[in-house]
Amino acid sequence: MKIITSAAELKAILANERAGKRVGFLPTMGALHEGHLTLARRAVSENDIAVVSVFVNPTQFNNKTDLETYPRDVERDARLLESVGVKYVFTPIAEEFYTKEEMEQRFQFDFGGLDQVMEGKFRPGHFNGVVQVVSKLFQIVEPERAYFGEKDFQQLAIIRRMVEVMKFNIEIIGCPIVREASGLALSSRNALLTDEQRKIATNIHAVLAESATFYSQTTVGELHDSVIAAINRHEGLDVEYFDIVDGRTLKSIDSWNASEDIVGCITVYCGKVRLIDNIRYK
Ligand code: PAF
Repeated sequence: MKIITSAAELKAILANERAGKRVGFLPTMGALHEGHLTLARRAVSENDIAVVSVFVNPTQFNNKTDLETYPRDVERDARLLESVGVKYVFTPIAEEFYTKEEMEQRFQFDFGGLDQVMEGKFRPGHFNGVVQVVSKLFQIVEPERAYFGEKDFQQLAIIRRMVEVMKFNIEIIGCPIVREASGLALSSRNALLTDEQRKIATNIHAVLAESATFYSQTTVGELHDSVIAAINRHEGLDVEYFDIVDGRTLKSIDSWNASEDIVGCITVYCGKVRLIDNIRYK
């Protein structure tokens, strides 16, 4: 496995090596866990060359403390990626990766409204940064396939739109959420939880999973309110939003008949740590 920091070097290596081969790409912000490694294994097994980027992208953070405290351990990440057979790890340096203008001006993209809800509403500008970095990475790596986790449900919908709008010839593969045995969705941010918080945070998925067993017997509004109340009942958990949406348009629905693709997306603060999760109803 080779670690590369220069975009030009990665482009040159891939140009030289890729004839007749399929490149699979996994963009990450590092602090890798089993969820990332599951995606990395797929990128390795389904392609000839697997490339993973490890880059804490500053332009997608709208909170300075969040950016500063985001967990980082590139050496450990590289060891893990090597152990699953990844060929190239791309770890750019922000000041080289972006021009001064790119760092300072908000990247413009027509989200078709997908950024106006949920994460987009609570983290203004976040998805501009995500589209900016992923489109730039796609132009460098030019993969045949790219892998994204379904935990970041809105991000996946936005990446699919980006591929369509920007006409990337890349297959986007959404991968199911990987969970601890306790049900807690794996996330790099879990590293910031104390042991006690980790236990409390398991209630997020427990409540969501239970709600999926009886959703059709209640109204969307009642289910929405009962999920929030059931999670907030646990000391240390504070729901930021819970939206029950059409899985394609991300628009809130008000009846279970409104769509055949219905997902509940949630963000919960566990102490100061912001955790996201989702559950499929239909
Ligand atoms: O999901 C993430 O970790 C990031 O948003 C991504 C896709 C790597 C872009 O920085």
